[in-house]
Amino acid sequence: MDDYKDVESSGELKQHSATDSDTHPKLYVVVAFLTGAIASIGAQYIFCTPQSGVNTVSVPQRSIEVFAPPYAGSSEVHHFPPASPTNVFPSLFPTDVGHAGPTPTGAEAGLIATAPSYPVHSGAPHLVSPASMNKGDKHKSSNFDIFKHWGNLSPWFSVERGAFGLDSGPEVPETCSITGLHLVHRHGARYPTQFASFGGPANFSGRLNQAAAGWKAHGDLKFMNEWTYKLGEEVLTPFGRQQLFDLGVATRIKYGFLLKNFSESNTLPVFRTESQDRMLASALNFAIGFFGYPFEGQYQQSITIEEKGFNNTLAPYKTCNNADDKAKSDRAIWYVRRWADIYLKDAHARLAPQLKGYDLSIEDIYTLQQMCAYETVAIGYSKFCELFTEDEWKGFDYSLDLYFWYDSAFGSPVARVQGIGYVQELVARLTHTPIAVHNSSTNATLNDNPVTFPLGQSLYVDATHEVVVLNILTALNLTTLAAEGPLPADHIPKHRTFKVSHLAPFATNVHFQVLACDSVAEPQIRVIVNDGAVPLTGIKGCPAHKDGLCPVSTFVDAMREMIRDTDWAWGCHGAWSVPEGTQWNTTVGYPPLPQ
Ligand SMILES: *[C@@H]1O[C@H](CO)[C@@H](O)[C@H](O)[C@H]1NC(C)=O
Ligand SMILES: *[C@@H]1O[C@H](CO)[C@@H](O)[C@H](O)[C@H]1NC(C)=O
Ligand SMILES: *[C@@H]1O[C@H](CO)[C@@H](O)[C@H](O)[C@H]1NC(C)=O
Ligand SMILES: *[C@@H]1O[C@H](CO)[C@@H](O)[C@H](O)[C@H]1NC(C)=O
Ligand SMILES: *[C@@H]1O[C@H](CO)[C@@H](O)[C@H](O)[C@H]1NC(C)=O
Ligand SMILES: *[C@@H]1O[C@H](CO)[C@@H](O)[C@H](O)[C@H]1NC(C)=O
Ligand SMILES: *[C@@H]1O[C@H](CO)[C@@H](O)[C@H](O)[C@H]1NC(C)=O
Repeated sequence: MDDYKDVESSGELKQHSATDSDTHPKLYVVVAFLTGAIASIGAQYIFCTPQSGVNTVSVPQRSIEVFAPPYAGSSEVHHFPPASPTNVFPSLFPTDVGHAGPTPTGAEAGLIATAPSYPVHSGAPHLVSPASMNKGDKHKSSNFDIFKHWGNLSPWFSVERGAFGLDSGPEVPETCSITGLHLVHRHGARYPTQFASFGGPANFSGRLNQAAAGWKAHGDLKFMNEWTYKLGEEVLTPFGRQQLFDLGVATRIKYGFLLKNFSESNTLPVFRTESQDRMLASALNFAIGFFGYPFEGQYQQSITIEEKGFNNTLAPYKTCNNADDKAKSDRAIWYVRRWADIYLKDAHARLAPQLKGYDLSIEDIYTLQQMCAYETVAIGYSKFCELFTEDEWKGFDYSLDLYFWYDSAFGSPVARVQGIGYVQELVARLTHTPIAVHNSSTNATLNDNPVTFPLGQSLYVDATHEVVVLNILTALNLTTLAAEGPLPADHIPKHRTFKVSHLAPFATNVHFQVLACDSVAEPQIRVIVNDGAVPLTGIKGCPAHKDGLCPVSTFVDAMREMIRDTDWAWGCHGAWSVPEGTQWNTTVGYPPLPQ
């Protein structure tokens, strides 16, 4: 599979590819205090810097590595940008020539409060869905949307009203107004990650290449005779870039009025992301969408280090040894294997005979489904999507629910410990009180400094990975999302609220809205995941409210209890183990307690 373990998740692989620390000058890594630093980051991504001389600027070294990953899988690679372009004369292309014309700005937007309805995000402009689908299904529904059946590889979309069990939308409930927003989002669509624990497009294409002379495809697979594998690794795709830009724009239109708070306190917002290439690129694309170009001088971007051994609430697996444990991921894979054997049986029988001279395994067939998703979000269309039936896409979607349930969410022994660091930060922000004890993934150097971790602001934006989003939802004790209990490997349960395509797709976004309401004296909080309101009734003391409101003080008390009852030392470093298979389950994302 893909993200999984490493990349998105844990990280034994850290040294791989050009995406990590080697690509970012240390200078930028901690926190850009100076707007100048932000300016140069932006410039790195967007423009040639005007000061540099001929041949020295323009193309930062990193881009070259990024576009030509050195691995066996790609059968086609384009080297753009060229390493030494001959026409680079920065002095002839100044970035500031003056004469901008009038530049008055208007008032901030507040669509979340001012519009009669909410703009639905239906997903994926620029991407093309299959021209035809395998007609194997008996019951085909005309409105089947393949993009919504790729688990964590789906582009984010507004979930249906009621998806999480509340008949309420993200609009501000009547008689309330929003006073704060804590936004956590995932990076946008990316190429496959280097780590693949089941399936894996690059490895598959590498094997096909090696065996190139020996096989020939027929029938539905005939296109593979001319097909080349064009995907890179790890970094954002152009569409992924757009997702974050769009999310930034949408957030400004909905919540722009929250910026008044910063003008009043004479401060700039601080947004956080990690050093990994796609994380930084996602955050900066969000910023361009939210602030517009040029964004320098409008906010400060904290870029925390995502690397083994560094305390980082947005990359907690880097210090949580038990989360790095292969056994944990194997447990999740155990379920996926069993389920794939079932739901891909027919597809295997249908497709394997169409590739002569190469034995396609069930795992390979699974990879063809991944290929569909990855190619679509990277190059806009994939012929592989046409190969499967609607039911097989539902099966694929569920395979990812299984994986993430057991690897990163309520069914994982290390989900809650990994999410608790962010919960501690959320409590600090909600109560305007610094974190008292650093005994999880929190980072005292950053968290105890009011400049790098400000309290008492109206807007917070944090970028992270899907596994961490799921860790956080688990640590918040949002157990209504886990109502169906441990997911079975042999069938798709009829009713389930735990769907990874709903909770952790590309550019997934979780809004913690803080509200003031006429009807109640106390400030309220609610949680909106991809435009769906989540019931907070799993959280101790939170009432069954039709819009999912809970008093902030009640919410905070429950979170403090969660923090008390979550032992990082035990969860991440304790000598517990859990068996593979169905012999042991958790539905609260916590390991067996010490005997
Ligand atoms: C694919 O993965 C297998 C198992 O990890 C490995 O032995 C093989 O070398 C890989 N092949 C390619 C082409 O990457
Ligand atoms: C805290 O974060 C800073 C900046 O990313 C980093 O330099 C430092 O090493 C981190 N501290 C720990 C204990 O990991
Ligand atoms: C890093 O995390 C460990 C484990 O929770 C903690 O003991 C240590 O104090 C933290 N360091 C900093 C600088 O936050
Ligand atoms: C900014 O917003 C925060 C959170 O709502 C609030 O506590 C603070 O008083 C506001 N500051 C100003 C100057 O309005
Ligand atoms: C764990 O959950 C699975 C899937 O629902 C179930 O089959 C199994 O019986 C459960 N195991 C235990 C020990 O409860
Ligand atoms: C967390 O959820 C569990 C299971 O639903 C519940 O028993 C417990 O009271 C909750 N704890 C808090 C602090 O919300
Ligand atoms: C941190 O320490 C406090 C106080 O000793 C303890 O109650 C809590 O469980 C610990 N939290 C974590 C996340 O380990």
